[in-house]
Amino acid sequence: MLLNVLGSAAGGGFPQWNCNYRLSRAVRGGEEGFRPRTQSSLAACANGRDWVLFNASPDIRSQIAATPELQPPQEGALRATPIRAVVLTNADVDHIAGLLSLRERERFVIYATQRVLEVLEQNTIFNVLDPQYVDRRPLPLEGVIPIADSDGRPTGIMVETFSVPGKIALFLEDVDRADDGFGTEDGDTVGLRIFEPDAASSAFYIPGCAAVDGSLKTRLTGAACLFFDGTVFTDDEMLDAGVGPKTGKRMGHLQISGPQGSMALLADVPVGRRVYVHINNTNPILDERSPEHRAVRANGWEVGHDGMEIRL
Ligand code: MLT
Ligand code: MN
Repeated sequence: MLLNVLGSAAGGGFPQWNCNYRLSRAVRGGEEGFRPRTQSSLAACANGRDWVLFNASPDIRSQIAATPELQPPQEGALRATPIRAVVLTNADVDHIAGLLSLRERERFVIYATQRVLEVLEQNTIFNVLDPQYVDRRPLPLEGVIPIADSDGRPTGIMVETFSVPGKIALFLEDVDRADDGFGTEDGDTVGLRIFEPDAASSAFYIPGCAAVDGSLKTRLTGAACLFFDGTVFTDDEMLDAGVGPKTGKRMGHLQISGPQGSMALLADVPVGRRVYVHINNTNPILDERSPEHRAVRANGWEVGHDGMEIRL
């Protein structure tokens, strides 16, 4: 199976359009040690032909333009795509807005939990994806499902879904329920195990996760590859940067550093490769010369970047 990190940044991308923080300025200015990054998405292919996207970022058009495997085949029909399905991990705008760019009467399938499917249903702009062409299929909250194309043909990719601590999408927050996770429910955020039917190795894709507990650690043990929430290095990093009032926790993201951070909590979990994705534009690991970048590398983590390919 081939995995391709289409977009390694969190919502906003890197640089973010309106951001003048030192990191966005540095990458915008082409400084050494900085790479531009598009918003959060992963692609996978098991049979050399059929591709499955995990999340559809607002940058999907440029991501497809940068990835020949996702483009219409040279000898293909007048309208064609190797993208057979899009699997959603939540309803955050950086994970669903790209669906709107996949209109034009092309057949593919959207897989999401019932909660996320309801968001698409309630926001009628998603009807630009004509249901005659684009099937919406439910992901189980806990369970394994083969990802099939719109004719029901298997893509050779299976996913196992599991609920992870997270937060309802920002645009759906119920401010009257601030003490109750702003109305967050099970199924608002899931993690995914991605695997082939007869293969021993699995990849995990968890771009949003608010906490790591024993059951998650057990689940991840022995994985060939883990793509994990690398939104913030420190919980109050956005406040420190002066760009906003929200902590990582408030956004449903676990910080990387410190004794209660993902780096420490996952340190004793044996995993083949561990890669931070969904990296916010305030995260100092984006500067390859920073001590924070060196710290995650020294702890066995890779800093995900656009176009990063991993073959299992
Ligand atoms: C998040 O990951 O917290 C969201 O994508 C934030 C947003 O809606 O931009
Ligand atoms: Mn996000």
